[in-house]
Amino acid sequence: MVPEALRRRAEELRRELDYHNHRYYVLDAPVIPDAEYDSLLRELVGLEAAHPGLRGPDSPTQRVGAPPLEAFRRVEHLRPMLSLDNAMDEIGLREFDDRVRRLLGTEGPVVYACEPKFDGLAVELVYEGGRLVRGATRGDGREGEDVTANLRTVRSIPLRLQGEAPPGAVDVRGEVVMRLEDFRRLNQDQLEKGETPFANPRNAAAGAVRQLDSGVTARRRLEFFAYGVGLWEAAGVRTQSELLERLGEWGFRVSRERAVARGLEEALAHCRRVEALRDGFPYEIDGCVVKVDSLLQQEELGQRSRSPRWAVAYKFAPLQAVTRVLDVQWSVGRTGAITPVAVLEPARVGGVTVSRATLHNPEELARKGVLVGDWVVVQRAGDVIPEVVRFLPEKRTGQERPSEVPAQCPVCGAHVEKPEGEVVPRCSGLNCPAQLKARLRHFASRRALDVDGLGEKLVDQLVERRLVRDVADLFRLTEGDLAPLERMAEKSARNLVRALDRARRAPLGRFLYGLGIRHVGEATAQALARHFGTLAGLMDAPEGALLQVPDVGPEVSRSIRSFFEEPHNREAIRQMLAAGLELRSPVEAASGRPLEGRSFVFTGGLEMPREQAKAAVEALGGRVATSVSKKTDFVVVGEDPGSKADKARELGVPALDEAGFRELLEQVGGKGASAAEEAGETLPARGGAV
Ligand code: IVH
Repeated sequence: MVPEALRRRAEELRRELDYHNHRYYVLDAPVIPDAEYDSLLRELVGLEAAHPGLRGPDSPTQRVGAPPLEAFRRVEHLRPMLSLDNAMDEIGLREFDDRVRRLLGTEGPVVYACEPKFDGLAVELVYEGGRLVRGATRGDGREGEDVTANLRTVRSIPLRLQGEAPPGAVDVRGEVVMRLEDFRRLNQDQLEKGETPFANPRNAAAGAVRQLDSGVTARRRLEFFAYGVGLWEAAGVRTQSELLERLGEWGFRVSRERAVARGLEEALAHCRRVEALRDGFPYEIDGCVVKVDSLLQQEELGQRSRSPRWAVAYKFAPLQAVTRVLDVQWSVGRTGAITPVAVLEPARVGGVTVSRATLHNPEELARKGVLVGDWVVVQRAGDVIPEVVRFLPEKRTGQERPSEVPAQCPVCGAHVEKPEGEVVPRCSGLNCPAQLKARLRHFASRRALDVDGLGEKLVDQLVERRLVRDVADLFRLTEGDLAPLERMAEKSARNLVRALDRARRAPLGRFLYGLGIRHVGEATAQALARHFGTLAGLMDAPEGALLQVPDVGPEVSRSIRSFFEEPHNREAIRQMLAAGLELRSPVEAASGRPLEGRSFVFTGGLEMPREQAKAAVEALGGRVATSVSKKTDFVVVGEDPGSKADKARELGVPALDEAGFRELLEQVGGKGASAAEEAGETLPARGGAV
């Protein structure tokens, strides 16, 4: 018998951990430091170890995976899992709307709920009495595979529903996805181990969900987005949009880029807006789903054999294209890594022109067998560097030729090293300008210090003219230094100096990412920043302290140690601090300026005085501009808006009415950390905490 007091304590811990888990993984808004979470978890692990009777399948300690299975059981879905019809363009969407209105017999606009179409793996989660009892893949739509043990490891899947859970059974449907960042990292690991990388995040997510060893799934850091239920009667709602709200209340992650549209034109505008935001999404989306909002109308419309008549997927331009390899160049990265890059006949891929694509490393190049002159499939995902997927053998003429790893660095001429057991050749030049350029580009990139205006051509000039010899030199640049450069107007010089000035007050996590320490990606950099709080704390942290950070294993901690032990690096950092770099701890970064980096444009009359609206945005760290461009984040549209509203629509810039604007201010101003995510400061997933 377990003493009652311990039983109560265990339940209290579980409830608390569930709450923090939800704050962290679903809302991206943790309210306690990681260390405190870990100590709660350790206490529960201890209690359960001493009294195994306390351990249930929905305990937060059970997220690390169960013993491997021999095979998956097949299970029948409570209701079939349907697929969606596609609309390839505007015409397709208009046809869908015509059909819906004809079938419903209405002339007026139909209300639609629009949401991103996630490119992942569809799953069904069955809850009974609010507890997760089963998770299954879609399979053939009628029957899928029982992957419950694996789905339990996905931290954004609640093991127990929150709030008012329905007493009976409810089957929640949604998509398991892998963040592009995690995908990139997984593939990087695969490449470093000399293994075949995954073709895309969807395959990586599907592979992880269909692992017989759920421990592997747990390490892959998947996410789940809920978008519906099979039996909607159970949810007690009347529309799809209410249903999404309800799913949110139950503790699921639902897309924030959802909207209710009155009629086709609004639905189309939302689809275009989501498409314009596509590259900035942290995971892949391949379209926008338009659903009739009213569940009664959905019922009236019914379904065909495999797809509903009340929904359609408006598909975005594909992210693959076929083109020719004109050359293979060997590019030198910031750590000296020499990688093969295909120079392509420019091709449009998902709305962007691509003229270069990575081939990763010589082994991958050999595995893919791509030759100069080949026709190839190229692919891009989000803002990940485009890659060559495969060549088309049927297009070979015999004129194609291979490209060999150079013996000398193509930029500085230093010899190329390839240590035993490594797949990547490296330039051994200490002062290789290509390495410096790559370091600067990375440091200034959007996910690092985000220095607006410091593009590739400018970095080239700065290095070639020896204006910049290390990263710290960036912060010493004056307008006078910049003015004589090519294509540098007075105004751009001033703007760049300002942007550098802003970057001086960088959040610690972004700075750490910008340093380009091996194995320290964005997520790890953020985790380190949150754990240590200051640069000094991290720089002198012994390996044992580094290993306390979620997600940091021996390899990563070794790499961090050796980076900070290198006198050259310590000196570079000292120089940056001397040049006025002032790092902000994650707490400072998240609390004060949630709209940092976001720009707003106002048009038309607002009830709130313009000055007040402007001051409110600026107080939260945002900027107010007078004209709309692609870089505008929000247009606030009042009464009788001017041409700016049209321009915004044209460019796909999200528009807010005054109520929406007030809501946004409240949201970001009210809650510290959720505001941080609104501002693009996405927090990383907590990994392997047990
Ligand atoms: S609703 C009955 N909403 O797209 C309609 N599906 O071909 C069922 N998908 O495998 C789907 N995002 O997993 C819906 N927001 C979304 C979705 C979505 C992705 C997937 C779904 C299914 C496929 C449909």
